[in-house]
Amino acid sequence: MYVEARTKETYAMKMDQAKRVLLNNNRDGYTVPSPRLYPFQWNWDSGFIALGLCYVNEKKAFDEIRNMFKGQWSNGMLPHINFHHEDPSYFPGPELWASKECPWSPKDLATSGITQPPVYGFILSMMAERFWKKDKNFDSLLKEIYPKVIASHRYLYQHRDFNNEGLIYIHHNWESSDNSPLWDEALNNIDIKEARDVSGLRRDLKNVDAAQRPTNDNYNRYIYLVDLFRKYGYDDEKIVRESPFLIQDILFNAMLVRSNEGLIHLASLLGEDASEMETWNKKTIAALNNKCWNKEAQFYFDYDINQDKQIPIKVSNGFMPLFAGVCSPLQAEQLKRQLVSSFGSGNYILCPSCGVDEPAFDAVKYWRGPVWININWMLYHGLKRYGFVEEANHVKKQTLMLIEKNDFHEYFNPVPDIPDNARGLGGTNFSWTAALYLDLINESDL
Ligand code: GLC
Repeated sequence: MYVEARTKETYAMKMDQAKRVLLNNNRDGYTVPSPRLYPFQWNWDSGFIALGLCYVNEKKAFDEIRNMFKGQWSNGMLPHINFHHEDPSYFPGPELWASKECPWSPKDLATSGITQPPVYGFILSMMAERFWKKDKNFDSLLKEIYPKVIASHRYLYQHRDFNNEGLIYIHHNWESSDNSPLWDEALNNIDIKEARDVSGLRRDLKNVDAAQRPTNDNYNRYIYLVDLFRKYGYDDEKIVRESPFLIQDILFNAMLVRSNEGLIHLASLLGEDASEMETWNKKTIAALNNKCWNKEAQFYFDYDINQDKQIPIKVSNGFMPLFAGVCSPLQAEQLKRQLVSSFGSGNYILCPSCGVDEPAFDAVKYWRGPVWININWMLYHGLKRYGFVEEANHVKKQTLMLIEKNDFHEYFNPVPDIPDNARGLGGTNFSWTAALYLDLINESDL
């Protein structure tokens, strides 16, 4: 076994570096994903970061979560960015979102106006395994944050569940895997002439090669959607009537199920009633399997509400139901085969964010091919959950290799025919890469 064969001591230097990345990226109470590229607090990043900070400094881990929830809106929405301080080096910043114009946003903290995949139910549940009843600071954090996590899920079920079917829709690609080919058709339906040209305002291209980032046309469409949200004062009931982008996303919904499951575990620790989360989960699991599982393709596909059809593109998000325990043993077996055939065939490094036999596959472009460490971490846990020990171990081994040979990059090139130390892409000193590296090394072995 990889981690056993090479003891933790072998990793000591890399673990120190990972800790340093987290500490260097830590600001007063929260951690930025990458100092130059992403200088604020991001939602799901902070969940993964908190898990890693538990191996560095528990207080900072608890502060990370508390500071994230300072941005929560009174309707329960947990925003995807908290702008705790000003930083003109980033676009789109607080001026684009103008959150304070919205009556249910916090008045003392500017935030974005969209959310990201739910993580805090399962992150807190994992942290509880370690700290509950052993660390008073954790116990009080949990009591304070638990109802807020429930409120963030309630927001989703009340405002983002079209037709009350148990499946949450996202209305912006930034609520999931940014520029995945999943969104191409919906975004292309936006007439580019109606969008303003924001290419001159972009700052990301100063730090990262354009080949590794979304195109300008796409960026204009992303901002078009934000302009629409503002026009409707962030009122979901109005937005849903007009948005060209309404997608029931597998990644988002699978993480919601896993997070509901985390809340159910936390409810048992706190002596609280879990029936609301149990009802949600039954409904969402059934809906994922009825509406998004494609029997012919043997894969989970996102669903485009406006087009009323599945989006038949195989991306790594399709494996996340393993992480959430959504699949039957047969579905799990079929997914495992897809992992080997469509994603890892020909010695590709697992797990490319887009199937390597998909026409849209691009080895270096963000969510259109490169490996992301948070997805690998969830995939690893998902494979393990279904007893696929060998495959789980393989994913873990490749994940550790990528980080060891390339440092703490944002994403990684999966193609077979390049040197392993030439795989790092996107931002550097990326916090969740460092955090999840620490978690993978420290977790008990298979
Ligand atoms: C990128 C990722 C997004 C992440 C953000 C901050 O935009 O696509 O998922 O939250 O960076 O790291």
